[in-house]
Amino acid sequence: EAHTTLSITVVGASGDLAKKKIFPALFALFYEDFLPENFVVFGYARTKMSDEELRNMISKTLTCRVDKRENCADKMEQFLKRCYYHSGQYNSEEHFGELDCKLKEKEGGSLSNRLFYLSIPPNIFVDVVKCASNNAASTSGWTRVIVEKPFGRNSESSRELTRSLKQYLSEDQIFRIDHYLGKELVENLSVLRFSNLVFEPLWSRNYIRNVQFIFSEDFGTEGRGGYFDNYGIIRDIMQNHLLQILALFAMETPVSLDAEDIRNEKVKVLRSMRPLQLEDVIVGQYKGHSKGGKSYSGYTDDPTVPKDSITPTFAAAALFINNARWDGVPFLMKAGKALHTKKTEIRVQFRHVPGNLYRRNFGTDLDKATNELVLRLQPDEAIYLKINNKVPGLGMRLDRSDLNLLYRARYSREIPDAYERLLLDAIEGERRLFIRSDELDAAWSLFSPLLRELEEKKIAPELYPHGSRGPIGAHYLAAKHNVRWGDLT
Ligand code: BG6
Repeated sequence: EAHTTLSITVVGASGDLAKKKIFPALFALFYEDFLPENFVVFGYARTKMSDEELRNMISKTLTCRVDKRENCADKMEQFLKRCYYHSGQYNSEEHFGELDCKLKEKEGGSLSNRLFYLSIPPNIFVDVVKCASNNAASTSGWTRVIVEKPFGRNSESSRELTRSLKQYLSEDQIFRIDHYLGKELVENLSVLRFSNLVFEPLWSRNYIRNVQFIFSEDFGTEGRGGYFDNYGIIRDIMQNHLLQILALFAMETPVSLDAEDIRNEKVKVLRSMRPLQLEDVIVGQYKGHSKGGKSYSGYTDDPTVPKDSITPTFAAAALFINNARWDGVPFLMKAGKALHTKKTEIRVQFRHVPGNLYRRNFGTDLDKATNELVLRLQPDEAIYLKINNKVPGLGMRLDRSDLNLLYRARYSREIPDAYERLLLDAIEGERRLFIRSDELDAAWSLFSPLLRELEEKKIAPELYPHGSRGPIGAHYLAAKHNVRWGDLT
């Protein structure tokens, strides 16, 4: 379609996310020939900058994933030539009008599709959307807007945001991004489940004892304390990233792979869950300490965080799905900052083998003999299944071994960044991996009452040392549901 121009405007172009993720992802798409012939990229922010200065800024973060290719420098050059900058206020129709003129000039009267990426705080979403949609009225193609979380702080504020956005945009123009849905192994979750006979029939309370969603980072909130303190780990990670993965994991088989069919199933499973209560969670916060002559700062040592903050940087939660498939199965979540390792995984623990002939080989601890399926989302992507195996030799000794699909050993291709897939999907109008407003609402309904109670009752987080495995309370919570965390055994 030589006569179509695609413009991608990154609003909040000088921010961290834009620099680290959005521009590099756009370049990667260009590099792999996924962008249309005629495209332009615009950065928009308040900072005064020239086109050249923007290009300089961006160029520092572009990488050629496959550095072997010699034409990389050329490609970067070509990409940067298509990047422009416009500075303006976020609530100024006049400044957006100027941007519109610049866009029109580049579009040269062709059919013009416009994608806006709002990489800005939510309190200015609506202003920007209002201005951008004003402009949309005068263009011939589509206008779509990608928005990043936080989508509110609770059910009410999220509904309010949805309502305001809908004054200017229709639901199918709004692309609510949750970058976890763009991760390779999350995409693969449905493939693993629905296209393998050895897993599909096992996917229920009949065979699965519990499922664990574990997110851990080995760094604190340094530099983001101001944002983080207003949200906390439950809103930052659980209510969105982990819950989205849970929904994909647990949903019923969709009618097809169409976006609406998949999202219908996700909403259904979210609505089958009981809202969390205080006894379903434990919260923690990391504290400073020193070890081996090095000192690690605590959450409240951050100058942008109030000294008496009780915002959780760690949480563990037990969720239940009240439907025929999952009745009684604990879905556990654990998310934390400043822990001992950086890792995200899904762990599926299967039931004991009834009447296991080999039970005496496991002593009294049958838990040691359960099969466990692990999807390691990052780093070092892998899917492995723990099975019981006979140790070779004349005796009869069993141990647990892994059937291991390690991505880097199996595939030489590098795994694309989540933002590449999601940007490409937004450009192509594929909505499967974006959050529909009813999904968002269902997700907030689960966490909103709990968050209110935690805050009203000022529940103090359990302190854990920076770099540790997190608060001990997470074990008690799991034990209450007869579960052991798979990442600790
Ligand atoms: C973001 C959170 O959504 O996800 C951050 O706001 C977190 O706090 C980040 O660090 C983790 O993303 P990833 O892709 O690095 O695991």
